[in-house]
Amino acid sequence: MNYAVVGEKVSASYKAVFQQYRRDDEIEVASQNHRHLSGILRDLTTAFPHPVRVLEAGCGTGRYFHCLKNVEELVGLDVCPEMLQAAEHPVLEDEITVPNIRLMCENIYLASLRANFFHVIYSLGMFGNGCPVTPEILGRFHAWLAPGGKLFFNVVDEATLMPSARLKRRVKRVLYPVLPDVVQKTLDERENRMPFFGLTKSALEQIMKQTAFSSWRIHRHVCQSPLWQGVLLECRAQKTQLP
Ligand SMILES: C[S@@+](CC[C@H](N)C(=O)[O-])C[C@H]1O[C@@H](n2cnc3c(N)ncnc32)[C@H](O)[C@@H]1O
Repeated sequence: MNYAVVGEKVSASYKAVFQQYRRDDEIEVASQNHRHLSGILRDLTTAFPHPVRVLEAGCGTGRYFHCLKNVEELVGLDVCPEMLQAAEHPVLEDEITVPNIRLMCENIYLASLRANFFHVIYSLGMFGNGCPVTPEILGRFHAWLAPGGKLFFNVVDEATLMPSARLKRRVKRVLYPVLPDVVQKTLDERENRMPFFGLTKSALEQIMKQTAFSSWRIHRHVCQSPLWQGVLLECRAQKTQLP
């Protein structure tokens, strides 16, 4: 997959909706889904006995910035400059307690960040459309985390898809290696438009097993939001502490 090309497509698609997305933040913050995620983020950052450095991958308009507690520095990274522009004045801005927020316009698959630096990395709503969860991206997160650092991300559960779409994806996965080059090329080009990368729980488990994370767990969460209904896989992982 050509991450630069897909990143440009993703950026263009969010550029078209960033104002609506920012308005939707005002609705979403009152939802049960937001309370659920807010609680997880608070638990993650307050689990450390000192203020922490945090990376949000695919931060969008900064919908979750106000949920963070015990954070001294936040890097909000996103591939879409318009979403980041909106993140300069995020929802519930008055409630934000982070003293130092840095917004970075980068593609997460290509970004180069400091190793062993962040205590917490989280990513909400980024994986799925145009963004695959791979051992490589998780390897990057692992490298950027400090020892004992914590990762939290969600990804659309493939079970959310219609059965016919699921079947099509499975057939494609099985047949792809034996297809003629020209057909593979056509499929690759289509994939580079805005591919969908939902996962099943067992597929995500297989991916996690290929990473250096010492411990992790995956939970299925039924998302109850006025903006989106479906099932998400939520994954929490931890980098090994130094002895
Ligand atoms: C559904 S929005 C979620 C935004 C925010 N995390 C939230 O929950 O409101 C997905 C965000 O991920 C960003 N994104 C997608 N692919 C990306 C990539 N490869 N690198 C960085 N950001 C990416 C998009 O630009 C978009 O802002």
